[in-house]
Amino acid sequence: MFARVTAPVATELRLPRRIGRYTLFDRIGQGGMAEIFLARAATELGGSRLVVVKQILPQFAEVPDFERLLVAEAKLASRLTHANVTQVYDLGREDGCLFIAMQYVEGLDLNELLRRCAKSRTPMPIPFALHIVTEALRGLDYAHRRTADDGTPLGIVHRDVSPSNVLASFEGEVKVCDFGIARANDIAESLPDDALKGKAGYMSPEHARGEALDARADVFAAGILLWELLAGRRMYKAQPDGPSLLELARRGDVPPLEPRGLAHEAELHAIVGRALARDRDARYPSAQAMLRDLEAYVAKAGLVTSGIKLGDWMSAELGSEVVAQRRARERAAKALEAGPLAEVRPIGGAAYAKTPAPTAVAPAPPEGALAPPSVASFVRDAPSGTGEPEAPLPALPVARAPWAGFAVAAALLAIAALWALLRPR
Ligand SMILES: Nc1ncnc2c1ncn2[C@@H]1O[C@H](COP(=O)(O)OP(=O)(O)OP(=O)(O)O)[C@@H](O)[C@H]1O
Ligand SMILES: [Mg+2]
Repeated sequence: MFARVTAPVATELRLPRRIGRYTLFDRIGQGGMAEIFLARAATELGGSRLVVVKQILPQFAEVPDFERLLVAEAKLASRLTHANVTQVYDLGREDGCLFIAMQYVEGLDLNELLRRCAKSRTPMPIPFALHIVTEALRGLDYAHRRTADDGTPLGIVHRDVSPSNVLASFEGEVKVCDFGIARANDIAESLPDDALKGKAGYMSPEHARGEALDARADVFAAGILLWELLAGRRMYKAQPDGPSLLELARRGDVPPLEPRGLAHEAELHAIVGRALARDRDARYPSAQAMLRDLEAYVAKAGLVTSGIKLGDWMSAELGSEVVAQRRARERAAKALEAGPLAEVRPIGGAAYAKTPAPTAVAPAPPEGALAPPSVASFVRDAPSGTGEPEAPLPALPVARAPWAGFAVAAALLAIAALWALLRPR
């Protein structure tokens, strides 16, 4: 289905810009089918909130069935409300491009988290690795068990559980995002067999073979996440002259985990092994079953931790740069909220500001931080109001208080009287 779309093409439009009621002001990522923007959403009562807008790359509009599929997906995804699932708020279209608005998770996806661990030579503490996977399993289990209002199972399968779709926030939350390519079973039936999606490195063998999927495909992918967080490296690695990632996924050969000296480690490895069983009938039948075993192991091995500790660790060890970026983004967003900056027009050589400049315009961000949109760009991009010709600006008012003249006259009279009394005769 995606074969016609060759290379992702970014939209290359300037920021800030508006899509519907969203003001996009920072581009924070790009995946296979969309660009990700940080945006401000105006609320009905005049407030606003920070959201992520996922703008589908324009070339996907030409792919037959894509829109229908995506709309169906977004409708399903918007039914999911859970602490471990990124909330979908909205689906819309602007200038022929589809977009999805969703909850913004301020943190790192697992790819980035592991990359930063490797860069700073900070191994991921095992309790956090286990915590992340149990939280992700909670989100998956919730989605898998969702039913329609009449109680019929929705048959939601994520199909793309991978490090870039698991987000850990600096507040310590873990959320599975992008149920955007998950499909209910009825939609799956109508698609061609070769419509393989998701990333090959995290596919279950049945997914890589193009078979119909159930929740156990997500269990397999969660097993790979666990394997990789424990090992600190990728499970499947394609070599230049060896089999491709897809081929490796079809074979489903799982390399053994090296011992880390954990209490009851064989039990942990058994959990990983059962999640990664090649034959799905030998696998955990559900995310919940895997979650139960993992939780029991964590308690038994004394590896319990909390979201707060995870968030603190991430902020302390990996987050300084991202926190600086967040500050810059917040300042930029506030400047946006404060509205267009003053238009400066000279009057007889003096400047007259129609509206005061917002105080939220940021000082220079720390080095390496993402610069907020410049003041100049806000001025340039400011909406021109009603569009009607503007009345000439008024001249600066002169203070005219009647009592001021009266006081001057009284003072002159007093001086004259004093002079008359005291002058030498
Ligand atoms: N709701 C969100 N909050 C914060 N960051 C997000 C959010 N959604 C996505 N991101 C960031 O944007 C990046 C790109 O996301 P995107 O989903 O487009 O690509 P992907 O996950 O790599 O690929 P795929 O198209 O398979 O999902 C993510 O890796 C993540 O870091
Ligand atoms: Mg994604």
